[in-house]
This record gives sequence, structure tokens and C-alpha cells, in this order.
Amino acid sequence: MCIAPCVLSPAKRLCILQDIYYRKAKEVGFRARSAFKLLQLDEEFGLFQGVSRAVDLCAAPGSWSQLLSRQLRHRAGSAQKDAPASSVVAVDLQEMAPIDGVTQIQGDITAPSTAASIIQCFEGGRADLVVCDGAPDVTGLHDVDEYVQAQLLLAALHITMKVLKTGGGFVAKVFRGADISLLQAHLRLFFSAVTIAKPFSSRESSVEAFVVCQGFLGEPAPGPSTTEATGAAAACSLGDAGELLLQSFHGRVPAAERQGASASAAGLAALAAAGDLSCFD
Ligand SMILES: C[S@@+](CC[C@H](N)C(=O)[O-])C[C@H]1O[C@@H](n2cnc3c(N)ncnc32)[C@H](O)[C@@H]1O
Repeated sequence: MCIAPCVLSPAKRLCILQDIYYRKAKEVGFRARSAFKLLQLDEEFGLFQGVSRAVDLCAAPGSWSQLLSRQLRHRAGSAQKDAPASSVVAVDLQEMAPIDGVTQIQGDITAPSTAASIIQCFEGGRADLVVCDGAPDVTGLHDVDEYVQAQLLLAALHITMKVLKTGGGFVAKVFRGADISLLQAHLRLFFSAVTIAKPFSSRESSVEAFVVCQGFLGEPAPGPSTTEATGAAAACSLGDAGELLLQSFHGRVPAAERQGASASAAGLAALAAAGDLSCFD
């Protein structure tokens, strides 16, 4: 008798993989299988080590917040009694069912008022980790989707600058595109190590990946107002993110190297807007 080899089509393999994580999520009480992506990133990068305060941006339905809350409570339980209380702040446009140990904010992460509410939750303290699994409603128009995803990432980065402690970590969903190395270069302005990672539980066929940033270099020092710089128009079109990048540039580059700051600011805005790296040559 001849037995045909069992060859699974990519679509079938994908269904099985999704089903495995879907069932696992149900078993352990996670609201979504995305929890395994963050879990696998932690296994690879030790993200949760020493973390007692975390921010989960674009958190609904809440599986990352569930995981963070469980991990942080577990770690706090096994640490000494005088360890600071663990806490997670979760933000999303959508309402979420409550999660123990998680403070929820319903809001748009691109709105300055949301950033202010998150900062308030920490009462002057800072978070050890900020994560963002933000995904816009996809239109199917690749350029538009990539642009909106980039706006979410920039908003997340802006909030991160304000709430993350020096040395802290930042993880965010990104689309793997031609500009991914450029994005890594941008993020190295703010973090000592930046890696693009793809957890097993993320479908190989999807363009989704995660940028894992470790060793936050600290909130950039305030620099000259963007409006004074030649790059004002370009920076304004980038909103807060343009302002942030310009300020970071002024905060990171020694004064002696900042002669002709306007031209450099224009260069940095061009880098952010169009990927022009010439201002770093
Ligand atoms: C893939 S889901 C996040 C899943 C979540 N990490 C989990 O494990 O349950 C993406 C979320 O991004 C949220 N989102 C998209 N744009 C947003 C924005 N501008 N502000 C806040 N949340 C946003 C959506 O509402 C959606 O809930």
C-alpha cells in the first residue's frame, strides 16, 4: 500500500499555529494569543527583569496587561518586603474589562491629553518598561497603513520619553518594510541597544515584527524651540514627534558640534520625514 506523505500547505500550517496559541491562551486565561508574543520576547531579552512599573499602550483586549500584571506581581511577591508596589498602566481607544493591578485609561495615544494622564498615574515616578502593540484598522493600502502605524510608534515613543526611567526598556510593534534599518538607526539616538525581533507566535507570513529597545539613555535635554529652527516646517508636519526628534538631537549633541544648529535641525527633520541620513555624516 502506498501512503502519501503528509504535506501541509502554508495556510494549513498557519491555522494550526494560530489554533495552538488560541487554545493555550484559553487554557491559561489570556484574553488574546498575543500574550505569547510578549512572553517569548521576555524569554529572549529578559524584558521583565527588575520591572515593577510598566505602561501598556494600545492594550485592548488586555492580554499584555494580564501578562505584565501577573509577572510583576509574581516578581514582587518573591522579592523583599520593601520592594516598591508593582503597577501597570494600560491605555487604549477601547474600553477593557478590569484587570487586577492594572490602572486603565481610555484614550488615543496620539493625543497630548492621554500622555498627560499617563504621566499623572506615576505621580512623578517613572516606569521601567513601556510596551506598545498598537495596530490601526488596516485599509489595505500598504503606504497608508504603514504611515498610520508609524504615527502610533512615534506617539508611543513620545510618551516613553516622558515616563520611562533611564536604563528602561521599550517594545513596540512595527511593520517590517524597507525602512526598518533606518528606524533602528533613529531609535539608537535614544537607547543603547535596539533589536528587531520576530517571536515564534507571530505568523511568519505577516509583516509584523517588534522593536526591542533596551538601556534608555534618558529624557533628552530641552533644546531651542523648533519654531526657531530652519527645519520648523518639516518638524511641524511631524507634530510632537518632529519636536521630540529635534529636541533629542539638541540634547545629545555637544554644544561645540551644534554650530549652525538650524541647518542641523533641518537635517534631522529631513531624516525623520524622508530618511535622509546626511546630517549624521
Ligand atoms: C492588536 S490590538 C492590541 C492587543 C493587546 N496587546 C493584547 O494583547 O490584548 C491593537 C490595539 O491598538 C488600539 N489602538 C489603535 N490605535 C490607537 C490609538 N491611537 N490610541 C490607543 N489605542 C489604539 C486598538 O484599539 C487595539 O485595541
